[in-house]
Amino acid sequence: MNTKRIRKAVFPVAGLGTRFLPATRAIPKEMLTVVDRPVIQHVVDEARAAGIEHFVFITGRNKHVIEDHFDRQFELEATLRGRGKEKELAILDADTPAAGATSFTRQQVPLGLGHAVWCARDIIGDEPFALLLPDMLHLGAKPCLAEMMEAYNQKGGNHIGVYPVAEDETNQYGIVDISGSKEKVAPIARMVEKPAKGTAPSNLAISGRYILQPAIFDLLAKQERGAGGEIQLTDSMVTLAKSEPFYSVRFDGKVYDTGSKLGFLAANVAYGLANKDLAGDFRAIIDAHLG
Ligand code: UTP
Repeated sequence: MNTKRIRKAVFPVAGLGTRFLPATRAIPKEMLTVVDRPVIQHVVDEARAAGIEHFVFITGRNKHVIEDHFDRQFELEATLRGRGKEKELAILDADTPAAGATSFTRQQVPLGLGHAVWCARDIIGDEPFALLLPDMLHLGAKPCLAEMMEAYNQKGGNHIGVYPVAEDETNQYGIVDISGSKEKVAPIARMVEKPAKGTAPSNLAISGRYILQPAIFDLLAKQERGAGGEIQLTDSMVTLAKSEPFYSVRFDGKVYDTGSKLGFLAANVAYGLANKDLAGDFRAIIDAHLG
């Protein structure tokens, strides 16, 4: 069994964020704040907690602020130091990746998620890697990618994070067929993108967390267009699954799509209530609003 260590993670941040206009006119949706940090920081923290050492960002126009966010802010740090703000300096320090631990490459044209992932091929090389969709936040007892790493270390192959959604909403998601298994980690028999109502093989939706073998790049290189005229990651995963094992890893916490307005609002409520410094006062504010 090949369980080569996963050292690198890919974060595709080149999408246009049209569902969140006008907020995303000039600000990337990944930089919108959930409680006290941008969405992308939450997801990078999740990857770091799972042991990821190198962070690869697939960016596009208007996304340079993401690169700035993960850099040292010399003037800010000097000012904080001069004012003796050690606590704030420590927060910045903890959030900044080490020099050389990040890579940024541009997708140039947003041709779809599959194309964005393919743009990472040279930086990843011939190693398995993690892929995290930065607009999907996972809040639970244990970080989602860490659980997937454990499954990968036992089984090797490819892994996809999934979570249960309402039966009547399965037509909005990528759904996995795990042959009725109730196990947390289960072999995937089939993946279906947005199944027609009443035809979904389960209610387990793909949550935006993946561990993939580098063979995916050869398939993505064919640049075949799928649904919506975009180069879809799912199409290449379906082909790869004919020759390599794929497992689903069920996440038992909550998943928030912060690329949608309602998902973003829900994430702020959930993360606010989960923040030990803010939860008490925040709950009182919510209660007052609910009257
Ligand atoms: P989404 O479809 O959620 O992002 O893609 P989007 O296209 O920005 O959103 P809307 O629908 O217009 O509001 C999932 C992830 O893939 C990235 C997005 O940035 C997002 O993190 N992505 C998507 C790319 O990097 N490049 C693409 O061509 C498409």
